Amino acid sequence: MTPDNKIIVTGGAGYIGSHTVVELFNAGYVPVIVDDFSNADHRVLDRLRAILGQPVTCHEGDCKDAAFLSRVFTKESGITGVIHFAAFKAVGESVQEPLKYYHNNLMSLVVLLKAMMAGGVSHLVFSSSCTVYGQPDHLPVTEETLKKPAFSPYGRTKQICEEILEDTVKSHAPLKVMALRYFNPIGAHPSSLIGELPLGVPNNLVPFITQTAAGIREKLTVFGDDYDTLDGTCVRDYIHVVDLGTAHVKALQNLEKISKKTYYDVVNIGTGKGNSVMEVIQVFEKVTNVRVNYVIGKRREGDIEKIYANADKSRRVLNWQTQLSLEDALRDAWHWQKRLGEASSRVAS
Ligand code: UD1
Repeated sequence: MTPDNKIIVTGGAGYIGSHTVVELFNAGYVPVIVDDFSNADHRVLDRLRAILGQPVTCHEGDCKDAAFLSRVFTKESGITGVIHFAAFKAVGESVQEPLKYYHNNLMSLVVLLKAMMAGGVSHLVFSSSCTVYGQPDHLPVTEETLKKPAFSPYGRTKQICEEILEDTVKSHAPLKVMALRYFNPIGAHPSSLIGELPLGVPNNLVPFITQTAAGIREKLTVFGDDYDTLDGTCVRDYIHVVDLGTAHVKALQNLEKISKKTYYDVVNIGTGKGNSVMEVIQVFEKVTNVRVNYVIGKRREGDIEKIYANADKSRRVLNWQTQLSLEDALRDAWHWQKRLGEASSRVAS
């Protein structure tokens, strides 16, 4: 008998994808990973097997490849929904190579939607981002906050993907979509078996902090301390990646309850609280007892001064709110970093 609660997780071997796979499994779903491993490591599959106590099915391929996706949908009977993570996400790179981002992020969504229609699969949770708001005029941002021009081609791809989804739903296609606008996912699974695996020099704050604390990087540069914030450094809404995983489960469960055949909604996924870069460094030092060597540098081009979520809608619509704190996230990120260090020294020795 094949299970009839399979969920395709595109990008399921990636950072947020792999944590969501765990939460799907814990909630009784059968996650099926689709990933091209362009920004993920095959060892994640072994790690997932260790966490779940059983292997996860994985189809290796590119979501832009219609024939590949069609084979996946044919082979995997009992698919009830899709969570679409697979996308490029490096803001800076998207400025250098916009076409790479437009081609990958837009095409993969279009090809996936066609495959879902052909396969009769109607539930989709889409991985969007708070980047769609640009620099908002008022904080915290609600889902009704007017979208400003995006700060990068990456941000623009998320805005356009949301529009593609809205237009498809408007056309009365049999499609129910929940777009989740994540704020800043950080941390790692408490088992320290999965976490963020930045390739090369990390762009994001927390991997840079943990690598500096581990001695891999000499120092962290804080990008600007002259912003109009409490301590002059940028403010973000940092959310534990495990909480983010459970938000996807709630979003799927919500779609299952909706009787309409065609539906589109967006929900902010954040804690509702903003923390500055300096606060993140201080909390990291407090929970780990490790000092972070940092210097204050120039502002980073394209950075937004401050953004954090109004998280009311996620509570109201998804019956979801964060359970884990910034302290939890930074402690888990540090444990993960130490585990990575141990693994690489074992390889080196
Ligand atoms: C951005 C996007 C987010 C996207 C993510 C992917 C926005 C609002 N957010 O997050 O949608 O998913 O990139 O990469 O566009 N910082 C330092 N030093 C560092 C690194 C970062 O001071 O070495 C600061 C940044 O200036 C920023 C904060 O830390 O204020 C967080 O930066 P980062 O982790 O890169 O995330 P965002 O830029 O907020």
